[in-house]
Amino acid sequence: MGLDRTINYLSYFLVLLSSFCLELGHATDTIAAPNFIKDSETIISNDGDFILGFFSPANSTYRYVGIWYAKFSTTHAIWVANRNNPLKSTSGVVTISEDGNLVVLDGEKNIIWSSNVTGSVSNRSAQLLDSGNLVLQENTNTSIMWESFQHPSDSFLPKMKLSTNMQLTSWKSYSDPGVGTFSLRISVFYNLPEIYIWNGSSPYWRSGPWNGQLFIGIPKMPSRYLDGFNLIDEKQGLFSLIFEFSNKSWLLHYVLTTEGNLVETYSSNGKDWSIEWSSLTSECEVYGKCGAFGSCNSKNSPICSCLKGFEPKNIEEWTRENWTSGCVRRTPLQCMRANTTGEDGKKDGFLKVRMVKTPSLANWSAAFEDECKYRCLENCSCLAYAYDSGIGCMSWTREYLIDSQQVSSTGGVDLYVRVASSELDRKKEVKVIVIVTVVIGIVFVAVCTLFLCRRRAKHKARKTRSEENNMRGTYPTFQRQENLAGNINQDKLQELPIFSLEELASATNSFDLSNKLGQGGFGPVYRGKLLDGQEIAVKRLARTSGQGMQEFMNEVTVISKLQHRNLVRLLGGCVEGEEKLLVYEYMPNKSLDAFLFDPIKRELLDWKKRFNIIEGICRGLLYLHRDSRLRIIHRDLKASNILLDEELNPKISDFGMARIFGGNEDQADTKRVVGTYGYMSPEYAMEGRFSEKSDIFSFGVLLLEIVCGRKNASFYDHDEETMNLLGFAWNMWKTDNMAVLIDPKVLKPDFEKEILRCIHVGLLCVQDLAKDRPTVSIAISMLRSEIDDLPSPRQLGFTANQTAPETQASYHNQSIRSINNVTVTMVHGR
Ligand SMILES: *[C@@H]1O[C@H](CO)[C@@H](O)[C@H](O)[C@H]1NC(C)=O
Ligand SMILES: *[C@@H]1O[C@H](CO)[C@@H](O)[C@H](O)[C@H]1NC(C)=O
Ligand SMILES: *[C@@H]1O[C@H](CO)[C@@H](O)[C@H](O)[C@H]1NC(C)=O
Ligand SMILES: *[C@@H]1O[C@H](CO)[C@@H](O)[C@H](O)[C@H]1NC(C)=O
Ligand SMILES: *[C@@H]1O[C@H](CO)[C@@H](O)[C@H](O)[C@H]1NC(C)=O
Ligand SMILES: *[C@@H]1O[C@H](CO)[C@@H](O)[C@H](O)[C@H]1NC(C)=O
Ligand SMILES: *[C@@H]1O[C@H](CO)[C@@H](O)[C@H](O)[C@H]1NC(C)=O
Ligand SMILES: *[C@@H]1O[C@H](CO)[C@@H](O)[C@H](O)[C@H]1NC(C)=O
Ligand SMILES: *[C@@H]1O[C@H](CO)[C@@H](O)[C@H](O)[C@H]1NC(C)=O
Ligand SMILES: *[C@@H]1O[C@H](CO)[C@@H](O)[C@H](O)[C@H]1NC(C)=O
Repeated sequence: MGLDRTINYLSYFLVLLSSFCLELGHATDTIAAPNFIKDSETIISNDGDFILGFFSPANSTYRYVGIWYAKFSTTHAIWVANRNNPLKSTSGVVTISEDGNLVVLDGEKNIIWSSNVTGSVSNRSAQLLDSGNLVLQENTNTSIMWESFQHPSDSFLPKMKLSTNMQLTSWKSYSDPGVGTFSLRISVFYNLPEIYIWNGSSPYWRSGPWNGQLFIGIPKMPSRYLDGFNLIDEKQGLFSLIFEFSNKSWLLHYVLTTEGNLVETYSSNGKDWSIEWSSLTSECEVYGKCGAFGSCNSKNSPICSCLKGFEPKNIEEWTRENWTSGCVRRTPLQCMRANTTGEDGKKDGFLKVRMVKTPSLANWSAAFEDECKYRCLENCSCLAYAYDSGIGCMSWTREYLIDSQQVSSTGGVDLYVRVASSELDRKKEVKVIVIVTVVIGIVFVAVCTLFLCRRRAKHKARKTRSEENNMRGTYPTFQRQENLAGNINQDKLQELPIFSLEELASATNSFDLSNKLGQGGFGPVYRGKLLDGQEIAVKRLARTSGQGMQEFMNEVTVISKLQHRNLVRLLGGCVEGEEKLLVYEYMPNKSLDAFLFDPIKRELLDWKKRFNIIEGICRGLLYLHRDSRLRIIHRDLKASNILLDEELNPKISDFGMARIFGGNEDQADTKRVVGTYGYMSPEYAMEGRFSEKSDIFSFGVLLLEIVCGRKNASFYDHDEETMNLLGFAWNMWKTDNMAVLIDPKVLKPDFEKEILRCIHVGLLCVQDLAKDRPTVSIAISMLRSEIDDLPSPRQLGFTANQTAPETQASYHNQSIRSINNVTVTMVHGR
């Protein structure tokens, strides 16, 4: 009580003090009608970050009205009003004119600059917001008539929306903020938005098209998407670029410099600005550097080369590093020859160029990869095509391809360039030579090895016979697997009971088809009975899968260390010759999907049981993520990987893809994206970035499936439009119609609140941005109502807007549309 009162007094006192200070220093954030600010005065945003006032740039005596960061002097104003019309003296003022506009007046009351809003004269004021946005608004109804964020200068700030109808323009020079020659706009060609920087009217730099998560020509973009960098489709051809940066101790913005370079600068805790990223990192970034049909790679010397199947048009100029003339086709296309001479030769084909920023001005269509290729092949004017799961089909039907760039690390897509068939043969010849050489080499080495081994074996044969028998208790191949997850405890491995192939074959009646339980990620699973009567499930890894050994080892190392009642227990293993088998406890009720998506068995799962299953999965996941000695990301959580015991308690299974994390690793990238369509988070499916939060995404999908009793993939709403469960759930949430979602089999008034809560948590788990998803422990608290105020989910963009290919209006996100339930492996060329 006493403390409360003291705090009350204290805050009252503070309010008094601050209002006193405001009066003293004129520190207001608003200019209202009769008032004005003179050259020596400023207004300050409410939180004190931004200042509006008069300033002179370096080496200039002219006065400009602008906005700048309070922590930094006027060295670079983020916005300037009278850019092209400087004040020559310090007699200027900023005020609201009689016609309701924000104006800058000179000493003679001439209008130097005006916000130029037309319409009825009314009572307005201008306010500098905490974001750095200066808004002119109606006092009566606070509607915004004009804002500086819609009329930017050369800076792009957090929370600002840069739309297709706006542009950034560079300063003329560092001492003249007048409109310079460079401008930056989001250009949309055939439905493909991308950022262009223009030098006057000619393109100077481009970002490559947006694929729903990143601009494919900008390396190192992925982390930005997770930080909230996004391109929003506002429909009718309008797109807006935004980014958020909520940490107050960091200042971050983009500036288009007078040299036409887009620079991302940041400052932490008021330290000087540092450059985080810039668009012109190499000469290759300059538009069309290598001319027509050229390709630029900054890591090569010289940087320019011709696309495959092309040669320099003017070889002398190329050797002098003058690339403007570009390249020409080495062999004419068959389709062209056929047209002129009626000749009918071998059909043209495509040569693949890996990981490129695609040439400019692509034509877009919603076709899938095969059709994309076919369409391009059929039309002689199609020079190349490329397919990206986030974009769709791109093709080029112009006279030439320009501005291709080899991008390493992340970004880029594979470009298929049309060439005559003889060019393809040329490549094959090289391949054949390589293969022949390699084969001869291998045969030679093999023969030598065999020869040596024979001699040794003869030598040692008698000695080792007795040792061999002792070795049967271990996996001799394990020691050689060096690329395994860390922390392998060899002793532990050897503690794992070993079964002989014979034993397992007899337990499963020689792997009889009638004993097959299902198909796991990497091979079939059989039911079996050991001699002592114990029932087991045996996974037999597919012999053909090249990855088999890796997944096998992975599963053994991961699961042999885990003991939890919501994880399936590994009883042992077997490696004999080609055969690799894993032995688990047997789950009589098979997997969750067999119940959930079966119209009859579904009835057995009432709400109590379903909630118990949800909680069990959560506990298992929590153990994996937090409680076990290792931190494990499962990477393939889905209904068919949740097994049910006699009492329908869930057990997470199939650790073939799980990854162990070291103590302070939080996420990792992988080139091999493995998982199941429909359960993969956007950042994982598209960039191979996985973390606890990608498991949470899969859990969210699973949660919604359990509540709704439907699969995420292959789902039709009332209008018979294809869309997945996530999209449907989001629409129902938006329209406050969530009861429609709930499986009628479980809907009872008593449980409705709990069920709706589950849907809410499910939507939070499938948020597009990893940072917006809860952790498992928070998800558990949410489900158990230990947290009262659940945040509202944000719009699901990535996974929810999917329509059928025929009606594909939005160009991204096709990768998740596949309608199946099979674990897939995609190798990302990034
Ligand atoms: C200002 O002028 C000085 C002397 O001419 C020069 O060294 C400096 O670089 C100039 N500063 C800017 C920002 O142009
Ligand atoms: C406002 O309109 C005047 C006259 O049409 C024009 O000269 C001026 O450039 C405009 N100012 C702005 C900021 O658009
Ligand atoms: C304009 O609005 C302000 C605040 O609402 C009010 O104090 C002022 O009297 C108004 N002025 C006129 C001319 O209506
Ligand atoms: C606010 O008032 C202005 C002028 O009175 C009018 O033009 C505008 O439409 C109004 N806005 C809203 C949202 O009512
Ligand atoms: C921009 O274009 C102008 C005129 O075409 C040219 O003189 C200038 O060199 C270009 N600037 C750059 C950086 O390419
Ligand atoms: C903001 O950034 C500072 C400095 O990097 C960091 O210490 C702090 O934890 C961050 N705050 C939040 C809320 O992320
Ligand atoms: C580069 O080549 C073009 C023609 O291909 C020519 O017009 C231009 O003058 C050359 N530039 C230089 C610097 O040699
Ligand atoms: C085929 O030849 C005709 C006439 O020579 C020409 O008009 C047409 O453009 C050619 N088509 C293609 C695809 O080259
Ligand atoms: C090939 O593509 C061009 C440009 O898109 C188009 O004008 C032409 O009709 C197409 N030809 C065929 C046979 O589809
Ligand atoms: C782009 O594709 C559309 C439809 O496929 C076609 O009508 C159009 O002619 C194409 N444009 C170009 C420049 O190829």
